[in-house]
Amino acid sequence: MKKSIGLLIVLSLMVSAGLFAGGQEEEKAPASPMDVEQVVLTDKAPSGDLELFSWWAGDEAPALEALIKVYESKYPNVNVINATVTGGSGVNAKAVLKTRMLGGDPPETFQVHAGQELIGTWVAANRMLDLTPLFEKEGWMDVFPKDLINLIGTDKGIWSVPVNIHRSNVLWYIPDNLKKWGVEAPKTWDDFFTVAETLKSKGVVPLAVAQTWTVNHLWESVALGVLGADDYEALWNGEISWTDPRVVKVWETFGKILSYTNMDAASLSWQQATDMVVIGDAAFNVMGDWAAGYLSTTLNIEPGSGYGWAPSPDTSGVFIFLADSFGCPKGTNNPDATLSWLKVCGSKEGSDTFNPLKGSISARTDSDLSLYNVYSQSAAKDFAKDRIVGSLAHGVVANEGFMNDFSTVMEMFLTSRNAQQAANACQAIAIQNGIGK
Ligand code: GAL
Repeated sequence: MKKSIGLLIVLSLMVSAGLFAGGQEEEKAPASPMDVEQVVLTDKAPSGDLELFSWWAGDEAPALEALIKVYESKYPNVNVINATVTGGSGVNAKAVLKTRMLGGDPPETFQVHAGQELIGTWVAANRMLDLTPLFEKEGWMDVFPKDLINLIGTDKGIWSVPVNIHRSNVLWYIPDNLKKWGVEAPKTWDDFFTVAETLKSKGVVPLAVAQTWTVNHLWESVALGVLGADDYEALWNGEISWTDPRVVKVWETFGKILSYTNMDAASLSWQQATDMVVIGDAAFNVMGDWAAGYLSTTLNIEPGSGYGWAPSPDTSGVFIFLADSFGCPKGTNNPDATLSWLKVCGSKEGSDTFNPLKGSISARTDSDLSLYNVYSQSAAKDFAKDRIVGSLAHGVVANEGFMNDFSTVMEMFLTSRNAQQAANACQAIAIQNGIGK
């Protein structure tokens, strides 16, 4: 399988820096922390520093802060350093993390998406500790869905603890605004094109988007809508070529949708795109349900009466999922503190404290839904009955190499709007990054 150029560079840097445990490292002294493969559970009360690395800063911080409070009440001797690098979907944090990991300065724990973002990057580079003993001790093998454990595990171990389930394919709107403009939330992209003309004639932007990752985010919803769940999944296991006419049609539809979006997208954060919807400059936004966290927790708007939601057009009955998780990198200063943090992340109390504020649902099957608002309750209901597929933009179905290259293709498409060219470029990067092989 061919690896991405990016990953090859990372791996060769790690080898030359002596960070890669395996193969040529066999002569190294056995006591190196890099040689330890699995976490060791102890009964010792943890102390010292716990540096938590994530991109949950500013508007996105309340849920993490609440989880840290739960942690601090249980482990008062640990000094939590909440190290955040701002930027939605980790656009900046992931680059900083890479520098730190390669520089031999890993935080005690870091945010990472379940799926290929974890497995294809840090696990492939042998940088994480196997958490199987923790999962067994905490009874998590029975509490987390099997499919999710498969996404955070390999035949060699389990590599992170999921804190949530987010839904990616959600269309957000303000019911009062739609009423004022005389339109309804579109169920299909064809409906959207009709509604969009009405909105345009009233001087309203039909669909708000922001910086490039949010456009990638929109793309996966459009791809699912145009292809359907079977063909969407076939893209990731290589059964459909990226140059197939069905996939070219995704780019064509996507280009048409983009013609109904705001011009200043590149300079906006995802929250600012949501703000456009709230203040009535735009009618809709396709964003993950961290938008529900932002609308409810940060802006204090009531779900249902104050803001509304629907599956993104043409995706009713399908749930594009992603999960944030935390793991234990090799070579941290304080693995005991990391383990105690992971325990809280995976616990019922931690999960049901964090998720109602975050807009996500618990990754545990025993969560107390009475603690969640009507949006999250509806997401939980859909998660239980819908067909589940993985997110591209948030690390589930493709590795970081593909995702980085996909962003470059997207930048190109935003300028050229050439569907066939984008499809051809995607075929090349899929081969290069081992997608579907
Ligand atoms: C996603 C992450 C969410 C949320 C979002 C916006 O990648 O999984 O928890 O933080 O980015 O930043």
